[in-house]
Amino acid sequence: MILIIDFGSQYNQLIARRVRECHVYCQIHPPTIALDDIQSLDPKGLILSGGPSSIYENQSPRIDPAIFDLKIPVLGICYGMQFMMDTLGGTVKGVGKREYGFAELQVKSQEGLFKGVANKTKCWMSHGDAVEKLPRGFKITASTENTKIAATAHVKKNLFGLQFHPEVVHTPKGKTILRNFLFDVCGCKHIWTMKSFARDSIAQIQKTIGNKKVILGLSGGIDSSVTALLIHKAVGNKLTCIFVDNGLLRKDEAVKLKNTFKQHLNINIRYVNARNRFLNDLTGVTDPERKRKIIGRIFIRVFEAEAKKIKGAEFLAQGTLYPDVIESISAFGGPTAVIKSHHNVGGLPKKMKLSLVEPLRYLFKDEVRLLGKELGLPEELIWRQPFPGPGLAIRIIGEVTRQRLAILREVDAVLLEEIKNYGYYKKLWQSFAVLLPIKSVGIMGDQRTYENIVAIRAVTSKDAMTADWAKLPHNLLGHISNRIINEVRGVNRVVYDISSKPPSTIEWE
Ligand code: XMP
Repeated sequence: MILIIDFGSQYNQLIARRVRECHVYCQIHPPTIALDDIQSLDPKGLILSGGPSSIYENQSPRIDPAIFDLKIPVLGICYGMQFMMDTLGGTVKGVGKREYGFAELQVKSQEGLFKGVANKTKCWMSHGDAVEKLPRGFKITASTENTKIAATAHVKKNLFGLQFHPEVVHTPKGKTILRNFLFDVCGCKHIWTMKSFARDSIAQIQKTIGNKKVILGLSGGIDSSVTALLIHKAVGNKLTCIFVDNGLLRKDEAVKLKNTFKQHLNINIRYVNARNRFLNDLTGVTDPERKRKIIGRIFIRVFEAEAKKIKGAEFLAQGTLYPDVIESISAFGGPTAVIKSHHNVGGLPKKMKLSLVEPLRYLFKDEVRLLGKELGLPEELIWRQPFPGPGLAIRIIGEVTRQRLAILREVDAVLLEEIKNYGYYKKLWQSFAVLLPIKSVGIMGDQRTYENIVAIRAVTSKDAMTADWAKLPHNLLGHISNRIINEVRGVNRVVYDISSKPPSTIEWE
């Protein structure tokens, strides 16, 4: 495995992605990690990430300098390189004007990290400081016009520094450089695949859970579905899934999910129909945060009550993914403003006195999809777009009523059918409809109508942190609009949302 030290770079998850794409396992840890912990992880190499700080600031993040004596190869990127240089006796200085963007890299020779890289190649720079003087034993391995020490190496000690970012796509040979580090320098092997991950995690889960019982809250999303499948492969019917139908799901979703898990995958599933409870408590509520709180609270109660019926359960499985883990351990996370309360969920296991099992906690979303495929999850579930926990309640602006839910469900079904027909479903991060709390005048036949408006939202995104509104073809939009207005009673106008995130969010509430 490769250990990545997070100095706060916006790119550190990308470094991890690149390493994993080379089929090498890696983990990201903060610089506060103890030397003993590093040694017990036994990494084949260390990558020190970039970061927003200057090495000469008082508060700049640092890791125990003894890492350079462990005889483990180290690659420092941007701030990581500057930290290495500063620690080992070189000097780093501000460059006056921040260098940001493409630069032409002049490579000294095609060896070491630059094996297979041409003399001249593009690289991506983003820094305000640069190395001025190298520590003893280091030599320059590449330069750009503005940055003489754009890359450096101490070949005997296997220490390397890059001022530019090999992990971003704007450095076309970045992956070659990283591969050279991983395979030639660190001696890693390409053995991290979803097959090996599945095998190892199944063994690990068997060891942890043994003969005891485990429960899992199934939502129908990819994360909880893959977690269920993985745990089921490991401990079979020791796993019970609880699926709470909150009445806020898409058309036919509850039935489909029940069938897939029960009949197709043969997994124990307890279906709890709590629709009335949720809908009754939502009566008269229009504030989005209150909706979320109510839904969250009832979910926990219903789930707990159901879980209590499973006598002797000791474990609770959750589909937590790596980006959430990284965010919560990041040394630079700091307190962020609560935009929507779903970003701060938790508390379920503590109250329930169950031990947590989170087999996906080191995976990224697309790896979870690959794992789902490996485990035989049906395509439909693998490619299901994310769906928020509070469901359609936060897509009905204003009060959630049974009648409004019925309208939105029909609209949503038509929309998804057309998006799929046109081959856009997998290309979009999410596509859905929002029912607005205002009416508009229309004409149908010779009659005046005064009915609901729905907004269509379709976005592309990698991780939901940022998103672009999708440039759907006009004929697709036209088709969706026609079908909705013709087929769904109560709707006489369709509008398309052309805002990106930020400053808008993906959901309207
Ligand atoms: P926003 O609207 O914050 O959404 O841009 C980002 C992603 O999170 C989903 N989302 C939620 N998921 N509970 C959830 O489980 C929620 O309350 C919630 N609100 C938003 C949203 O669908 C998008 O994928």
